[in-house]
Amino acid sequence: MKVEDIKKVAVIGAGIMGSGIAQVVAQIGIEVGLRDIDMKFVERGIGGIKKTLERLVSKGKLPEDAANAILSRIKGTTDVKEAASDADLVIEAVIENMDVKKQVFKELDEICPEHTILASNTSSLSITEMAAATNRPEKVVGMHFFNPVPVMRLVEIVRGLTTSDETVEVARAFAEKLGKTPVVCKDSPGFIANRIALPSLNEAMFVLMEGTATEEDIDTAMKLGYNWPMGPLELADMVGLDTILSVFEVFQREFGDPKYRPCPLLKQLVRAGHYGRKTGKGFYDYK
Ligand code: 3HC
Repeated sequence: MKVEDIKKVAVIGAGIMGSGIAQVVAQIGIEVGLRDIDMKFVERGIGGIKKTLERLVSKGKLPEDAANAILSRIKGTTDVKEAASDADLVIEAVIENMDVKKQVFKELDEICPEHTILASNTSSLSITEMAAATNRPEKVVGMHFFNPVPVMRLVEIVRGLTTSDETVEVARAFAEKLGKTPVVCKDSPGFIANRIALPSLNEAMFVLMEGTATEEDIDTAMKLGYNWPMGPLELADMVGLDTILSVFEVFQREFGDPKYRPCPLLKQLVRAGHYGRKTGKGFYDYK
């Protein structure tokens, strides 16, 4: 298969990442089936895309008819068959849970045409393991986007142990078609960017927990001292504290190295249901 053969894409999971991915795919003129388990999640995802597009229209950066055309290419559904049975590429963006992801890949393998590439947007889980849940392990690849997807330029293309060169090449070329810069890496927990960046967010949480400085001063230090666009605690709230904790649990399990100990404060916040922006509370309040 070649990148030009991708005429329809399915995105499984309409959360922040899934809806962002659906938006950038629709922006290049490709039809998207956006699937979630409940219509209220689908509607929330499409509502978020609408808001982003409206902002672009109001800033004069996108004509209104172009925004409408982008939206019309995204078909929301709870039916995985409707979304994916005629897709050439499927990008999975469901929760970071291997059992759930394997179930999704198994189902996609059964309903998608033989040529379809199955990609995962996982932040840290093994592409090789997801591939093994299918009968097409050579067509399973990681396509890891960054939040907010319409703005961030990177896509990590993750080569599982069984991923073919052709699949890697199509995924890489598709990321370029989306206007992103792909980097290719092996299937290792956290790949490149999260392996390097997330430990620094965890360290910021220890600095806070130890009472060294306030949330605001920690964030200001990194914004002004290191030119980060957002402070580490603001960024953690945006990424989702539940997501960060699950990545750290993968790092601990896979590397077995104590340097990946998640900050106890992070664990407490997640236990309290304070996941950051998406729940209205994390290191900061958003209500
Ligand atoms: N969707 C679409 N566009 C958005 C957006 C969104 N959610 N948020 C901001 N934008 C656009 C704005 O419209 C604006 O566009 P313009 O320059 O053309 O007018 C541009 O981005 C800049 O936005 P703002 O002026 O509102 O705000 P900032 O300049 O502060 O930028 C930011 C916002 C892009 C979010 C910036 O703060 C940033 O880069 N933060 C760091 C983000 C980051 O590190 N992401 C990676 C997270 S880790 C991850 O996703 C991996 C996962 O596996 C954990």
